Amino acid sequence: MTPHTDVRWAARGPATLAGLRAFVVEVARDLDPGSRYVRELLAALDASTSVDDYLARLCDAERAAAFRQDGSQPSRGERGFSWVDGATWAEMDPWERTLSNLLTGETRMMWAGDGADDFARLPEVLAGLPAGGRALSVPCSTGKEPFSIAIAALRGGRADLSITGVDRQAAYVARARSGRLVPHHRDLEVDDAARWFVTDEGGTRARPDVLALCAFEVGDVLTGALPPPASFDLVSCRNLLGYFRGESLDRALTNVLARARPGGVALLDPFVADAREMRQAQERLAAAGLRRRWAGLSFFDVPT
Ligand SMILES: C[S@@+](CC[C@H](N)C(=O)[O-])C[C@H]1O[C@@H](n2cnc3c(N)ncnc32)[C@H](O)[C@@H]1O
Repeated sequence: MTPHTDVRWAARGPATLAGLRAFVVEVARDLDPGSRYVRELLAALDASTSVDDYLARLCDAERAAAFRQDGSQPSRGERGFSWVDGATWAEMDPWERTLSNLLTGETRMMWAGDGADDFARLPEVLAGLPAGGRALSVPCSTGKEPFSIAIAALRGGRADLSITGVDRQAAYVARARSGRLVPHHRDLEVDDAARWFVTDEGGTRARPDVLALCAFEVGDVLTGALPPPASFDLVSCRNLLGYFRGESLDRALTNVLARARPGGVALLDPFVADAREMRQAQERLAAAGLRRRWAGLSFFDVPT
């Protein structure tokens, strides 16, 4: 499949403080205007005397460690760094590092976060997909959501399924492809962890049969640079739409839903499915004829 590299900050050239500031303002147009992430990052930029000074603020290890303990603390720019580990950070250019502060790259195996209830019903959903069925996980961040879907498929004897993970941060996609998990202790709190992961001095990585079901690409739900429409039986879009508002939310939702084939399944997250702030998304789902499969869960059936 063609890589989807039509991302708006690509090839911006050398970073300057003014250029980075303009970039933040541009990216923020799609986000909740009240976003604390945007405010904090602009403050970090404005306090910086040079690009090097700015980049140093973005990876303050001490503050990132404190942020991981207590995410309610205001960030001085180390928010994005605190969501990935040093190896992934080292691969990111100043634009990507900036972008990673504007929308969380935090991700968990589905059983270890807000996806636990949906994950419990996932085998049943996967069992209903056709032979050779395809799932899309967008955004995939550093891979834990596609790995979770692959594990649910393998547990249910569905090694015929494949999962495409898509994210707009190229460094996250590269990390996902490597199979190496960004560490979080809760990810391994599952009885059969040893069946799916290997842990050694290099950290924890997904086993080859999990990785074999997964492929990864760069793409963007806002521009629609995504795999072809109607090509997936299951489209998972969790923990992203809630950051968008207004026309950007409509555009993202339209682009994501278009990837599902008629009669397919969409998997969202509890916030998008239920929160009052997300009424716009819920109305759009209803208008497009999507019906919730189970009360309290985030699966929606796409009309035929
Ligand atoms: C909170 S993570 C969610 C990851 C995964 N779905 C999960 O729930 O664990 C949000 C991800 O959205 C990605 N992202 C932000 N804007 C995007 C866009 N316009 N298109 C695709 N991915 C985007 C970020 O790079 C980040 O990896």
